Amino acid sequence: MSQNFRFVVLLVSSVSLALSFSFSQTKKTPANAEGHQWWQDAVFYEVYPRSFADSNGDGIGDLKGIESKLDYLSQLGVDAIWITPCYPSPQVDFGYDVSDYENIDPMYGTLADFDHLVEAAKKHHIRIIMDFVINHTSDRHPWFLDSKSSRSSAHRDWYIWRDGKADGQPPNNWISGFGGSAWKFDPTTGQYYYHYFATAQPDLNWRNPAVEKAMFDVTRFWYKHGVSGFRLDAVDLLFEDPKLRDNPILPGKDEMGDPNMLNKYNDKLPENHDVLRRLRGVADESDAVLVGETYTDSAAELKEYYGAHNDEIQLPMDFMFCTVDKLSAPAFRKQIALAESTGGWPVYVIGNHDMARSYVRYGDGKHNDQIAKLMAAMYLTLRGTPVMYYGEEIGMENNDPQRKEDVRDPMGVTGWPKYKGRDGERTPMQWDGSANAGFTTGTPWLPVPASAKTHNVATESNDPNSILQFYRQLLLLHHQNQALVDGDYVALNQDDPNVLAYLRRYEDQAVLVVLNMSAATQHMSFNLSGEGFSFAKAKTLLTTSAPARSGRLDQIALEPFAVYIAQVSR
Ligand code: NOJ
Repeated sequence: MSQNFRFVVLLVSSVSLALSFSFSQTKKTPANAEGHQWWQDAVFYEVYPRSFADSNGDGIGDLKGIESKLDYLSQLGVDAIWITPCYPSPQVDFGYDVSDYENIDPMYGTLADFDHLVEAAKKHHIRIIMDFVINHTSDRHPWFLDSKSSRSSAHRDWYIWRDGKADGQPPNNWISGFGGSAWKFDPTTGQYYYHYFATAQPDLNWRNPAVEKAMFDVTRFWYKHGVSGFRLDAVDLLFEDPKLRDNPILPGKDEMGDPNMLNKYNDKLPENHDVLRRLRGVADESDAVLVGETYTDSAAELKEYYGAHNDEIQLPMDFMFCTVDKLSAPAFRKQIALAESTGGWPVYVIGNHDMARSYVRYGDGKHNDQIAKLMAAMYLTLRGTPVMYYGEEIGMENNDPQRKEDVRDPMGVTGWPKYKGRDGERTPMQWDGSANAGFTTGTPWLPVPASAKTHNVATESNDPNSILQFYRQLLLLHHQNQALVDGDYVALNQDDPNVLAYLRRYEDQAVLVVLNMSAATQHMSFNLSGEGFSFAKAKTLLTTSAPARSGRLDQIALEPFAVYIAQVSR
């Protein structure tokens, strides 16, 4: 993957359930792992507010829409929702270009609506996490308007301004993640400003203490409004080399048609960590969590984000996990081992608003629903905190634009036709089988795919074998089973090319998870005597495979892509 392309753009682009408990979602009685912080036992759920639920018929989701779905989220088993930016914004990058950090964009509602949402969510035992766009603002933010007005303006040094080269070319060769040079010439003052993303997203100068103070105050503002933390946008990119040295060029071109580049001088500079420690200090005053958009390339880099004394980001998302671009037991085994090796609390994600939906990334076109369950069973039973993406729980698929004129995402506009952008994974939540999937009474801002007729909340709520019901059951287990809450991760049958199997072991009990990642039936046998467990004492907790229900660990037959989860004891 090219270094300057921030997002993991992974171009891709029945069974019955045996449950040992009757299903009614009561996740609010967690197994209470000793010594855990609230965010370790929480399941996070990303809401893209434009696309979640529209309360006023303008075709764009809003805060009241989110509030109207709290019952759904609570019954699903979600503990915290991360709302992508809903601050006032010109919407060049759909909210990631913020023009006022301390308000709500009128298209989403008001600050009073936000306060109301926080209160209502609290009653549902759901916390709200905001998205903190920390690296850059909108070019319409008053700070930038002042900054660009003259070389001597009060905010001039809040952004990165430089002279061009003698021949008038940009100060260096850095490339924007949105395509083209990362520098834009501004004729008013005759200098270039730096923008890692779109030209409308100028980078803040984090070497200026006034920037740090203003931005830290933003977090204090929202803590006072009851938020429980932030997801830190583009947090790798806060600092740039003061000498602005050219980045090394790599062979080939990226999806935007630019040369591949190693972002040696503008990505993950050591200075990031000083800011993160101080930002964490502010978060700790409010028992808040920092979730990181951390694009790392190694266990060592991921480990650094936790902080040498666990004093930086509590939940750095592990996107290396998402680089596994096909179902592969060995590849996932390796990534899990890597996350475990950091010594930190892992954060697993299989999809978000910047990458093609997991349903299409891993689906084989024939067993997609089954594979969606398999993926869920994996990342919701691993040790760590999962971050779900809205719609994943009903098997939403990508609905990529077919024509360039339909593309809304600025990256898709530049990248077309090679890269169609991110609209496909941001389509309206599918609530029911009606014309606009119950998302809006108006015209949705992005079209709903035909698959919404079958893959929607209403239909799947009535189908015991649906992806949604499977998620509900998994989330219930995730919260209530002591070994899943608190157990170690122990990899099993590590040479198996087809089946990913592991134990979550807690004191004298354990949960065995067996995931057939192949299209063939697999016959498995587990001897857990070395781990001190007996095969005779297996009790099926959740499975999608009828033959697996016997509970005999020495003779499990798993159908293609089947899931088997069992409690074992001594
Ligand atoms: C990462 C966000 O997830 C993405 O959607 C956005 O375009 C960039 N950061 C810029 O803020």
